[in-house]
Amino acid sequence: MGRVAIVTGGSRGIGAAISKALKEAGHTVAATYAGNDEKAAAFTDETGIKTYKWDVASFDACKDGIAKVEEELGGPVEILVNNAGITRDAPFHKMSSEHWNSVIGTNLTGLFNMTRNVWEGMRERGFGRIVNISSVNGQKGQFAQANYSAAKAGDIGFTKALAQEGARKGITVNAICPGYINTEMMSTIPEKVMNETILPQIPVGRLGEPEEIARCVLFLTSDEAAFITGSTVSANGGQYLH
Ligand code: CAA
Repeated sequence: MGRVAIVTGGSRGIGAAISKALKEAGHTVAATYAGNDEKAAAFTDETGIKTYKWDVASFDACKDGIAKVEEELGGPVEILVNNAGITRDAPFHKMSSEHWNSVIGTNLTGLFNMTRNVWEGMRERGFGRIVNISSVNGQKGQFAQANYSAAKAGDIGFTKALAQEGARKGITVNAICPGYINTEMMSTIPEKVMNETILPQIPVGRLGEPEEIARCVLFLTSDEAAFITGSTVSANGGQYLH
């Protein structure tokens, strides 16, 4: 059954793979992005998926943006994938308030801003699928990512609390914790760190592919996944077992 879905950060990286997979599954998808107009336009040309520009760190922008999506795509948002995420890595002794606030704003407060603006409608209609893209680094912590690890761990707590609230209303809320995935985000990691520190810690011996995360989202957003809520799906090549 086709539903209206929003994927934040849905025009690049893991989000682009999620947007495409949801579209292929028959849903009408809106992909949001924050900055890169050129990449977003190219994504729409390639896939036919509409893109919308707003900053998930702004509550009002999310409210207005969601209203616009619902009007243009012709229905209420029934699937929300909170995927938008940024990194501002630095060892803590070099981490600034800007590093901290920008990552918490996008990666944690962004989930509140988006979800709060679809939640009441989902409750009224008795159906919703929410998937939050957390990270292995929210589970295990990561050197130079006090900000990112805190936000991503927060995403998991948010997921577990909301799952309890949505359960009687037909809304499932789950988290996926990707490991290191082959996207542009990896380009910020020095090559030496990647080859000598990160890859040797991944038993599967490679980075994950965005499509491998998209498949998890497809599963969790299906109507048939109604009994799975509050869970954390780890897709990390065996890097972190818990
Ligand atoms: N554990 C312990 N020590 C480490 C370390 C680690 N993992 N990484 C670096 N260090 C040490 C270095 O050896 C160095 O030590 P010395 O000062 O004694 O020589 C020190 O920390 C780093 O000092 P620098 O001055 O070089 O640090 P910098 O300011 O240049 O920062 C860095 C470098 C940001 C730490 C860089 O190494 C880096 O980007 N590392 C990767 C961090 C990472 O894995 N981020 C994840 C990104 S992927 C992602 O976030 C997606 C996801 O969800 C999985």
